[in-house]
Amino acid sequence: MRVRPDVEATSAPATKPVLADTRYPYGINGEYDAGMAFYIANCSTCHGVNGDGKGPRAYFILPKPRDFRHPASRHELDRARLFESIAKGTRGSEMPAWDKVLSAQEIANVAEYVYRAFIATDDGRGMDPDDALLALERHATSKIRALADLHRRAVTGLCPGGTFLLEAYTPEQLNYRTGGPPVEEMMMALGTLEEELRGLEWLHAQELVRDVHEGEFHHGAGAVVQLIGRKL
Ligand code: HEC
Repeated sequence: MRVRPDVEATSAPATKPVLADTRYPYGINGEYDAGMAFYIANCSTCHGVNGDGKGPRAYFILPKPRDFRHPASRHELDRARLFESIAKGTRGSEMPAWDKVLSAQEIANVAEYVYRAFIATDDGRGMDPDDALLALERHATSKIRALADLHRRAVTGLCPGGTFLLEAYTPEQLNYRTGGPPVEEMMMALGTLEEELRGLEWLHAQELVRDVHEGEFHHGAGAVVQLIGRKL
C-alpha cells in the first residue's frame, strides 16, 4: 500500500490529489484561464464541457473522445503527455494536431486547463485503489469538521477500494492528561467518526487506552480511537 503524503485531510479544506507533476517543454507555464476559454471554444464540442467526452460532435465520430476524468485517463495524462498529445493530435482519429495553429504557449494553456479541471481534481477519481488517506487532523474541532465537511470530503476523495486511517484522542483522554489539548470539542468519539465517515467499510474500529510515547507532550496512557476503513 502506498501512503500519499500529498493527500492530507487537514482542518483546512482537503488538498487536491496531485498526480505526477511533470512540466511543459521549454519551461513554459500554462495559463489556466486562457486555456479554459480556448477549451470551451474549441475542444468542448468533442470532449464535452465537463471533459467527459460527450460533446455534441462526439456523437458523430469514431473513435469517440475519451472521458478525461476516468481513472485510466488520469493515470496517463500528465502535463507532458497532454502537451504532446494536443500538439501532435491522435492519428486515426478526429483529434487534430494543434501545433499547426497554436503556439507552444497556447498549447500549454489549454493543457493546463485540461490537467487542472479534469485530471488532477479532488472528486476522488484521481486516486488509485492502492492509495491510502492518512488523517492528520491536528485536533480539528467538531465545528471545523462540520464546516469543512472534512470527513465526507475525505471519503469522497478516496477511490473505491482506497483506505482511510485515523487515530485521535477520545473525550475520555481529558481524564488522563497525558497529551492533547484539554478541550472536549477537539476529541473524537468512535460513534461520531463512524457517522461522519459513512461510506467506509471498517477493517478496524476501536476505542482503547494505549501507551503513547511521542515526545514530551504525549507521554503515558492515552485514550484513543483507531480507525482503518476501506471505501466501498
Ligand atoms: C473533432 C473532435 C475533437 C476536437 C475538436 C478535439 N479533440 Fe481531442 N480528441 C478527439 C478524439 C476522437 C481523440 C481520440 C480518443 C481519445 O483519446 O480521447 C482525442 C484525444 C485527445 C487527447 C488524448 C490524447 C492521448 O494522449 O491519448 C487529448 C489530451 C485531447 N484530445 C485534447 C484536446 C484538446 C485540448 C482540444 C482542443 C484544443 C481537443 N482535444 C480538440 C477529438 C477531438
